[in-house]
Amino acid sequence: MKTKISMIKNASEDEKEIQEAAEIIKNGGTVVFPTETVYGLGADGLNSEAVKKIFEAKGRPQDNPLIIHVSSKDLNLYAEEVPQIANKLVEKFWPGPLTIILKKKDIVPNETSASLDSIGIRMPNNEIALKLIELSETTIAAPSANISGRPSPTDLQRCVEDLDGKVDCILGGEQSDIGVESTIVDCTVNPPLVLRPGGVTLEMLREIDPNINIDPAIMKKPEPNLKPKAPGMKYRHYAPKAKVTIVSGNKKNTIEKIKEMVHYNIEKKKKVCILTVDENEKEYSEGIKISLGSLNDLSTVARNLFETLRKCDDIGADVVFAESFEQKGVGIAIMNRLNKAAGFDIVEV
Ligand code: TXA
Ligand code: MG
Repeated sequence: MKTKISMIKNASEDEKEIQEAAEIIKNGGTVVFPTETVYGLGADGLNSEAVKKIFEAKGRPQDNPLIIHVSSKDLNLYAEEVPQIANKLVEKFWPGPLTIILKKKDIVPNETSASLDSIGIRMPNNEIALKLIELSETTIAAPSANISGRPSPTDLQRCVEDLDGKVDCILGGEQSDIGVESTIVDCTVNPPLVLRPGGVTLEMLREIDPNINIDPAIMKKPEPNLKPKAPGMKYRHYAPKAKVTIVSGNKKNTIEKIKEMVHYNIEKKKKVCILTVDENEKEYSEGIKISLGSLNDLSTVARNLFETLRKCDDIGADVVFAESFEQKGVGIAIMNRLNKAAGFDIVEV
């Protein structure tokens, strides 16, 4: 398949390119587009044949439902039994990194929802994405635009790397600002439950409803009797080719342990990367150090996380050691993605 690749500088000036991409969506094709969280691989969410192409291009397991992207705040377009809390969350956080799970209307095909009777709905905070949805005159189903299992892409180049030749069109825009996927909140239950942490933090959600909780399964290694409620959260994910190990503990012990493991692996002729922060970078004398940002600015750490995991692949790392982050604010989303990238290989010190 020949993929048309266009870089969009400005959504209103480059409307012609977006219009062409919208025609592809209308005709049942696939279009990669930027969002503020990560790039998405879109198709008409109401067209089951189009949606199947998303699963094919990504190599995505069939039982993993898609999120539909909208340009209107009217939840009743695609959902039924919309509780008041869902509308409140939409009013506060849309457009933005928040996906709301609701009971789906029949117009949303089973291919999109992976046969669940619920559907995830999100309004992205990105002009190109919003314009594309509007001009497509439908809702766009879109998972992250990576080959299944790989770190989600946050810029055009990474989408091209994974999907050139597998989709009809790739629209490039700015680097994704948030860097981790949207927060998913299940509003089919009361109180609502966070199924995936993201840019809208638990603290922010609790300002709207203090009873909102996080699915206890998502920070733990998947077990048969404690399954995450978002089907996609059970897979190993976000992972570079290298083996990732997280070291968790106080600063001094963490650095000592990582140094010891780095030295051991270098002696064994392994290529070693260390994911660290500005504050600790200078402590390491061996291994390839990559700082994710400052401990005082976890938003930057989130923005850099997936790109850094992909850099480890570019470098050809065999093993990666990562420091851990406090599970507060966006730190919860960062640790959720890191844990999964590491397959929950965590060394406590
Ligand atoms: O930020 C995002 O949400 C990005 C951008 C492109 O919008 N999209 C994204 O999609 O991350 P994806 O497919 O990579 O992740 C969707 C997650 C999966 O874990 C899936 O299992 C869960 O959402 N999900 C979707 N529909 C669901 C439903 N009805 N009930 C529970 N979980 C659902
Ligand atoms: Mg994904």
